[in-house]
Amino acid sequence: MLISQEQLPIIEIDSMNELHNEEIARIAKLYDVAKGKDAKLVFELLNELIEHYKKHFADEEKLMQEVEHPDYHAHKHEHIKQILDLEALQSFLEMTNDIQSIPSYLEGSLTPWIIEHVETWDSMISKFIVLTKN
Ligand SMILES: [Fe+2]
Ligand SMILES: [Fe+2]
Repeated sequence: MLISQEQLPIIEIDSMNELHNEEIARIAKLYDVAKGKDAKLVFELLNELIEHYKKHFADEEKLMQEVEHPDYHAHKHEHIKQILDLEALQSFLEMTNDIQSIPSYLEGSLTPWIIEHVETWDSMISKFIVLTKN
């Protein structure tokens, strides 16, 4: 099943929730467009999603650095792996033009990754930040 707003865990830091919500909307749009025939638009939307993720992850890593979070490197590594995964999908599409493989990737790989990542890593840093700043 594709990630939905209702499935997304809510964490303590609003700015992080906002970034996560924006991505849910982008993913839903990419999912719909990939079921059609406009490959050019699919490439554009995937590229924008990757750029959004890079900014999202950089923002989170900055927040972790500000509070000297002890799991900074491990969490950053989770981000790097996800960017590489999305870039691998992008390369695969460039080679095959198989845009119809996108919906199953979004449902089967990205959705469980988001839920797990937000529930564990992002939730942990947001609690830590709230505790540190109060
Ligand atoms: Fe996040
Ligand atoms: Fe994260």
